[in-house]
Amino acid sequence: MRDLVSDMTNCLRARDLQVRSNGKALLDVHDLTLDGPGPTLILGPNGAGKSLLLRCLHGLISPDRGQVVQDGTPLNAYHKARQAMVFQRPVLLRRSVAANLDFVLKRQNMSRTGRKDRIVELLTEGGLEDKSRQSARSLSGGEAQRLAILRALALNPETLFLDEPTSALDPSATQMIERMVLRASSRGVRIVMVTHDIGQARRLAADVVMMQGGHVVEHGPAKQVLDVPGSEASRRYLAGGLVT
Ligand SMILES: Nc1ncnc2c1ncn2[C@@H]1O[C@H](COP(=O)(O)OP(=O)(O)O)[C@@H](O)[C@H]1O
Ligand SMILES: [Mg+2]
Repeated sequence: MRDLVSDMTNCLRARDLQVRSNGKALLDVHDLTLDGPGPTLILGPNGAGKSLLLRCLHGLISPDRGQVVQDGTPLNAYHKARQAMVFQRPVLLRRSVAANLDFVLKRQNMSRTGRKDRIVELLTEGGLEDKSRQSARSLSGGEAQRLAILRALALNPETLFLDEPTSALDPSATQMIERMVLRASSRGVRIVMVTHDIGQARRLAADVVMMQGGHVVEHGPAKQVLDVPGSEASRRYLAGGLVT
């Protein structure tokens, strides 16, 4: 019951979070709470701290101050096991597409038959049915990114972090990824995704986090943040102006 309650809640919070280097705060987030149905899209110029925030939320970086809190408890191994992350440039095993998925499923102690069925399911989800035996390293950029997302989904995550997964892709490859993200979201996976594509934020986001200079300058419903931005930094970013 406890699990069920936390599954339903899935409240991820960054509290007084700071990452510092050489005496300077690279990330300084006072309070950010992600508890809506999502997807949450994180927007902001290069160097704003988007990747750092994502890495902190996923527990890859320990902050110098503050903490990440999941459902009222500081982020721990139990929470991290229920999170998955997809990076901008996917790192795939030098094996077949199916073997890349099998690798993840084996670590969950799934039976051979169970894994086989799940691989078919995942390949279908990612439109990679015909690529099962192909070497993962020979996939196109879009296919490789879809496989990376499938590998993350194979973990049955409650939360999926994606760091600019479509930044190197053309519009049709991007559209396929966006559909996968929306389907995962509609199945109840919390999506937290970094993008610098405002159009993508409009297409996907329920809420938008706007970052600049290591700070969250705004967080709110997508329509509100994108159409009536409440901060000068957001207005300038959305207007395409240089934000310094
Ligand atoms: N490991 C690191 N050591 C020192 N500085 C870093 C490190 N990682 C990121 N930074 C700096 O932190 C700032 C935010 O980086 P990042 O989160 O990658 O930005 P974004 O993803 O928004 O483009 C940048 O100025 C970057 O140079
Ligand atoms: Mg980044």
